[in-house]
Amino acid sequence: MKGANGALLLLLALVGLFVAETTANKVGKICLLDRNCDAGLHCETCLADGNIRPRCTRVKPTDPQTKGTGLPFNRYSWLTTHNSFARLGEKSATGAVVLAPTNQQDTITAQLNNGVRGLMLDMYDFQSDVWLCHSLGGVCYNVTSFQPAINVLKEIRAFLEANPTEVITIFLEDYASPGGLTKVFDAAGLRKYWFPVSRMPKNGEDWPLLSDMIRQNQRLLVFTSKSAKEASEGIAYEWRYVVENQYGNGGMKRGSCPNRAESSPMNTTTRSLVLMNYFPDAPNLLNACKDNSDPLVNMLNTCHTLSGNRWPNYVAVDFYKRSDGHGAPGAVDIANGHMVCGCDNIASCKVNATFGTCDINPEPALYPGAISPGAASSATEFLLWQWVCMLVSMAVALSLI
Ligand SMILES: *[C@@H]1O[C@H](CO)[C@@H](O)[C@H](O)[C@H]1NC(C)=O
Ligand SMILES: *[C@@H]1O[C@H](CO)[C@@H](O)[C@H](O)[C@H]1NC(C)=O
Ligand SMILES: *[C@@H]1O[C@H](CO)[C@@H](O)[C@H](O)[C@H]1NC(C)=O
Repeated sequence: MKGANGALLLLLALVGLFVAETTANKVGKICLLDRNCDAGLHCETCLADGNIRPRCTRVKPTDPQTKGTGLPFNRYSWLTTHNSFARLGEKSATGAVVLAPTNQQDTITAQLNNGVRGLMLDMYDFQSDVWLCHSLGGVCYNVTSFQPAINVLKEIRAFLEANPTEVITIFLEDYASPGGLTKVFDAAGLRKYWFPVSRMPKNGEDWPLLSDMIRQNQRLLVFTSKSAKEASEGIAYEWRYVVENQYGNGGMKRGSCPNRAESSPMNTTTRSLVLMNYFPDAPNLLNACKDNSDPLVNMLNTCHTLSGNRWPNYVAVDFYKRSDGHGAPGAVDIANGHMVCGCDNIASCKVNATFGTCDINPEPALYPGAISPGAASSATEFLLWQWVCMLVSMAVALSLI
């Protein structure tokens, strides 16, 4: 009797899962698994924002190239990961357990496949090589090391090879001794994609067109924090080309967007590129979904105003996949909308459109905006969700008898 009941329940549960799994859902809809959600979304909760039931949330920005590539590179915005290499749960390649904080959930390859185009990498001399590491006084230790830089640079090369129209930017926190980076970038086979320093605008001019960078295969931008390497190794010194706001808690104060110490003020228009940081001093996996939602969009607007009415070309966050709906990918879509066609979202831009002509009926799912935590997406989904929950708890209870 008990066995028959169990079998029946199992069957019902499987039918329930099947129903749930064959329904692709839009942003904000309740889900059980990633594959219940449309492409570019995943299924997760945001407890920090009161979203207890898992919902479909975005992990991928809209590729602005789908609206054309005919604009200067500084008229596009790219999703950027802070400490892209510091992956949760990663073991150091030395074999040590990593004691340094972690900032992301997936590999560089997975990030690139989700549309991340800006990578922040910390490079150190370590074990007679260049490693991705975190610092204690500029020195890398086994327990703060992740892996040799060559591994990740090879992932980047593989992506550029497989995706001949994509452009990637690397921001280096550079502790490598002279010559070290040249050696490791060459060994990874990245030289042939190098965007030369000589073509970078020095006085606030527009960058070359995105289409031109693609055609010339100059699809890798590398910026270093060491000024001398621009002359000695041809690696652009970031602060000649980019302004950045304060990182960490100092960059999360509502209504202000101060430059970080190394950067010129945000409104310095002789620097053509703008990067916006938005993440706390101590990476926080649980809170990241809240930070990456409405507060991120607020800061996007604040920094836009305080950067001489310029939208950021790079939006840098921790745990980029975490949000309560549209998240960091949605923030990038807003910046791209304004820069690419003068509309409030890239979803409203038409292909090759004249600036200021907006599509008034874009795909609504692409619009950012908070999802009210309590709102059930639809009565059927709510019932389905409750039914599955009930079945699961009954099955658990039964197995305990
Ligand atoms: C660090 O890791 C290397 C292996 O890559 C090992 O040989 C060395 O002993 C370790 N150092 C310490 C201090 O644990
Ligand atoms: C630029 O920003 C600074 C603050 O960083 C401000 O003092 C200055 O007035 C601004 N300049 C312009 C032209 O807006
Ligand atoms: C957009 O412009 C590019 C050339 O700049 C052209 O190849 C492409 O066909 C255009 N697309 C549309 C839909 O107009």
